[in-house]
Amino acid sequence: MMNVQILDLKKQYEALKPQIQTAIQRVLDQGIYVLGPEVQKLEKDLAQYVGSPHALGTSSGTDALLLALLTIGIEPNDEVITTPLSFVATSEVISFLKAKPVFVDVDPQTFCIDPTQIEAAITSKTKAIIPVHIFGQCADMDPILDIAKKHKLFVIEDACQAIGAEYKGRKAGSMGDFGALSFYPSKNLGTYGDGGMLFVKDEKNFISAREYRTHGEYPKTYNHKKIGMNARLAALPAAVLNVKFPYIDQWNEQRREKAQTYYRLFEEAGLLNKITLPKVASYNKPVFHLYVILTQHKNNLIEHLKSNGIQTGNHFPTPLPYLECYKEAGYIKGNLPNAEKICSQTVSLPMYPELTLEEQQYVVSKIRHYYSNL
Ligand SMILES: Cc1ncc(COP(=O)(O)O)c(C=O)c1O
Repeated sequence: MMNVQILDLKKQYEALKPQIQTAIQRVLDQGIYVLGPEVQKLEKDLAQYVGSPHALGTSSGTDALLLALLTIGIEPNDEVITTPLSFVATSEVISFLKAKPVFVDVDPQTFCIDPTQIEAAITSKTKAIIPVHIFGQCADMDPILDIAKKHKLFVIEDACQAIGAEYKGRKAGSMGDFGALSFYPSKNLGTYGDGGMLFVKDEKNFISAREYRTHGEYPKTYNHKKIGMNARLAALPAAVLNVKFPYIDQWNEQRREKAQTYYRLFEEAGLLNKITLPKVASYNKPVFHLYVILTQHKNNLIEHLKSNGIQTGNHFPTPLPYLECYKEAGYIKGNLPNAEKICSQTVSLPMYPELTLEEQQYVVSKIRHYYSNL
């Protein structure tokens, strides 16, 4: 029996070991362990890569989103429109500020927020929209940006799963007023520890977000202008990212190749009418952070693959408003039919740049085995 992990981070580390060790040693010798030159280099390189005027290294993707909300002055009872199909961090930051996440259903093709349903959710309390480029494919940004402009709303892109993804040639994180990345280890560009980045379009917002990042002060210390937080990126994770960043396009291309290989293998196995493979909108160039298929046999298929040594992911079992943490909020089931259906059918298959053809063949053969035994 083969063992196939959904993601094997050690393979990447082995390939880059000498460079990473040199970078870590450099930071230790420099003696600057929070922010500093490593973080500045990363901010500069990523701002240029994404095409955003300003970037701030943050302690996580979650904190990048929170800084954006603080910067636009989100207050209790404000409303922020977002998607039900995401990691909890997206709506958690809204709720953390005692504002209300308003969930709009997703497009069944991209699994991202459906722009045609956004306007109906806007009220006098709405302040912002957070589209999420889920699984590495961008939301349909042009109509979202148009709606935001018309109703004077901020747009905060949650690009935590989508570094390098493109929408009509524009990079994820560069299109809204703000864009957030995550460098959690499993992300396409992941570090060893937590980390994130906030892209900011407007200079005043950038200056304000930078103050929020460091207890309401910057650049002068002990001059706290407002209540902020500690959301700084540390130097060691930034140094690791500086080693890895030059490879991101290559790694994303390898992920797209693996996606094509899965398509070919599933087609050859005659499974295209049994499972639904990821669909890419014509305007998108995705980065396949996750490779998520839909099946009517979610739990049984996950168990079958597990018993054959194949690790899968469950992204996500439950639309955000139906999580236990929102029990008191009173969201009613049945209002988000696309997200509900998708969550009941998703299985994330192994996907990372170093995944081998043999491993992909094994995964597909075991899925064929499952369906042939039904
Ligand atoms: C869509 C999405 N938003 C936000 C986050 C939060 O990022 P982090 O784990 O770096 O706080 C994640 C990652 O975990 C994510 O996948």
